Amino acid sequence: MKNTELIDILEKDRHLEREQWIQLFETYTDKDREYAAAKARETAVSQFGKSIFIRGIVEFSNVCKNDCYYCGIRKSNADCDRYRLSKEQILDCCDAGYEYGFRTFVLQSGEDKSYTTDKLCEIVSDIKKAHPDCAVTLSVGELSYDDYKRLFEAGADRYLLRHETASEEHYKKLHPAQMSWEHRMKCLEQLKQIGYQTGCGMMVGSPFQTVGNIADDMLFLERFKPEMIGMGPFIPHKDTPFKDKPAGSYELTLFLISLCRLMLPDCLIPATTALGTIRPDGREKGVLAGANVVMPNLSPMDVRKKYLLYDGKICTGDESAQCRACLERRMESIGYKVEITRGDHKSYDKDSSLR
Ligand code: 5AD
Ligand code: FES
Repeated sequence: MKNTELIDILEKDRHLEREQWIQLFETYTDKDREYAAAKARETAVSQFGKSIFIRGIVEFSNVCKNDCYYCGIRKSNADCDRYRLSKEQILDCCDAGYEYGFRTFVLQSGEDKSYTTDKLCEIVSDIKKAHPDCAVTLSVGELSYDDYKRLFEAGADRYLLRHETASEEHYKKLHPAQMSWEHRMKCLEQLKQIGYQTGCGMMVGSPFQTVGNIADDMLFLERFKPEMIGMGPFIPHKDTPFKDKPAGSYELTLFLISLCRLMLPDCLIPATTALGTIRPDGREKGVLAGANVVMPNLSPMDVRKKYLLYDGKICTGDESAQCRACLERRMESIGYKVEITRGDHKSYDKDSSLR
């Protein structure tokens, strides 16, 4: 079967067999990619109009107990200048973000145990008190069911935890033995069960990734049905064991955004910073391939260059206000408008929650 026929089937059935995914990833051409992008863009516009949701990211600590081989803030990187933001600093970032029109704040950090669950609950509930019309997204890694539940009850609405790869064997090649693929998957199940709008995702072209791995990622996403999917190309960082590994493919990242949009039409899919890092207009092209979210940086200027997961990260030299204006301009240049709303997933129901 031709690749364009497979893309038609995906659009209609929202499903492909493993062998069909493998065929697509092994043989796609620029034409196939453009064919998928046109359909994905149409799907996104029918779901969201020409509106893009924005989230302000506050990178509040780069201290991490983990040692992922790909990541610039891994524990073993002695050259990483560590920092932690206080609750007051985090709240100041959100207050400034509110003025710029953000209605979702994403709190992201390494796995830094100095922020206890009590402390994180306090931060979340203070943000919600100050900005009751805003959503809070957490991206602080693997925690226990009880911790996730308490944070949800404190007001956190969404949680991002990339699965990184749906293959346990591949996961082991990207992480030291202390980290467990099974535990990562369990966390994702628990987040969903508690009621978070849950985001997972993978790095595209991470070292040792095979087309079979990507096929398994697609099958996993089909089954898990995340509310959000974060995907960006792998980009090497000079102080990691993967410093000499090649970066992931820009084209494949765009293709995967389109395929995810066709498989899960109402999913919230960001055009990531990593995509904007490997190509100057990567985020615009991400939107044109079916993404509907952008996530500019709200972190204080003096810490931005310290939260480097990979080399060359963009937006580290720009004030939040500039970053916000820059993205608005970029979106307008392709005929889209950023929206001042929380930008929840369709399934989100304000009245039914465990809180
Ligand atoms: N290149 C691209 N993405 C990376 N991440 C971490 N390190 C890198 C890298 N070198 C991604 C991971 C992680 C997310 C916060 O950032 O997918 O889950
Ligand atoms: Fe951050 Fe352009 S989006 S500077």
